[in-house]
Amino acid sequence: MAFIAALLLLFFSAFSQGNALSLNYYTKTCPDVEHVIAQVVREATSKDKTVPAGLLRMHFHDCFIRGCDGSVLLKSKGGNKAEKDGPPNVSLHAFYVIDSAKKAVETICPGIVSCADILALAARDAVVLTGGPTWDVPKGRKDGRISKASETVQLPAPTFNISQLQQSFSQRGLSMEDLVALSGGHTLGFSHCSSFQNRIHNFNLTHDTDPTLHPSFAARLQSICPIKNKAKNAGATMDPSSTTFDNNYYKLILQKKSLFSSDQALLTIPKTRDLVSKYASSKKAFNTAFINSMIKMSSITGGQEVRKDCRVVN
Ligand code: HEM
Ligand SMILES: *[C@@H]1O[C@H](CO)[C@@H](O)[C@H](O)[C@H]1NC(C)=O
Ligand SMILES: *[C@@H]1O[C@H](CO)[C@@H](O)[C@H](O)[C@H]1NC(C)=O
Ligand SMILES: *[C@@H]1O[C@H](CO)[C@@H](O)[C@H](O)[C@H]1NC(C)=O
Repeated sequence: MAFIAALLLLFFSAFSQGNALSLNYYTKTCPDVEHVIAQVVREATSKDKTVPAGLLRMHFHDCFIRGCDGSVLLKSKGGNKAEKDGPPNVSLHAFYVIDSAKKAVETICPGIVSCADILALAARDAVVLTGGPTWDVPKGRKDGRISKASETVQLPAPTFNISQLQQSFSQRGLSMEDLVALSGGHTLGFSHCSSFQNRIHNFNLTHDTDPTLHPSFAARLQSICPIKNKAKNAGATMDPSSTTFDNNYYKLILQKKSLFSSDQALLTIPKTRDLVSKYASSKKAFNTAFINSMIKMSSITGGQEVRKDCRVVN
């Protein structure tokens, strides 16, 4: 039943959006596109080590709302509040890198490469530049014309339990394997206190602190993020090696030292728990699974045009 539903969803999404992706999409029309983007991402990263995390998360947010259609890049206009101005945007950053890449790409092949493809390629480059695996990104996404802040409530929240996570992923044709592998993106970057506040203060009626958090780790988070937290930028890195793409994230989950309830939730059912253990003990298994799931996530399409400016519709 689930299989038939997945098939139907795949068929329907391929049919309704009508843009099949391919590895050689720009071979004739913009052969240097990937080099040009990689160069821009490399330069930006050499100046700011937080850029890769920003780009990877931005691509995830893009794909989860209306498909990977560059809707996350659009700015609010008139009465319309765009996705990037929705509540979960606190850590979205590095938009300027996509703008620079677009500018560089427009000089060599104007009007050809979508912003959604630029973001998908930049996210891959971000993983490579931080020491992760590389892969060929299917291309041919189109940019969308709609971006609504109100739709960001459809993103999974860090307080989600395993069934909520499963639902959020399956609505996008993504499996529990994809959930565990893609959560590995949390090997990079930073989180604000608000994203794990639920676990360290007033957890529930009987526990002030989430008992699934390692006590000394919980104490450290509490000192960084006091109840009346006034520092807007306070927070913690996702992983001590937060600028290196590795499988440390899974080791941390097993040590009860992951930041979010949604990370820890991966231990609550055998299927996902087994995958966490597998990726914690094999970087190779993680890399293979991550590549597979990234290609799947980044193939959720949705747009219609090739935007001239990534921040505004044509
Ligand atoms: C499974 C569901 C997910 C949830 C609930 C979730 C939630 C979050 C939250 C709350 C933050 C911190 C925001 C902040 O406080 O600043 C974050 C950061 C991040 N997430 Fe996720 N995320 C999920 C999946 C993913 C996926 C699939 C990827 C990419 C493959 C990803 C990549 C990242 C990265 C790289 C950061 C760090 C961003 C930065 O430092 O700028 N996340 N995530
Ligand atoms: C995030 O959204 C808020 C409104 O919800 C807005 O004030 C803020 O400027 C946005 N931040 C970024 C980086 O776009
Ligand atoms: C997850 O949370 C939802 C909503 O709060 C709840 O209905 C459900 O029972 C929870 N599932 C698990 C496995 O805890
Ligand atoms: C609080 O959370 C703990 C751990 O999840 C659980 O064992 C306990 O029953 C919860 N208490 C209440 C009142 O929900």
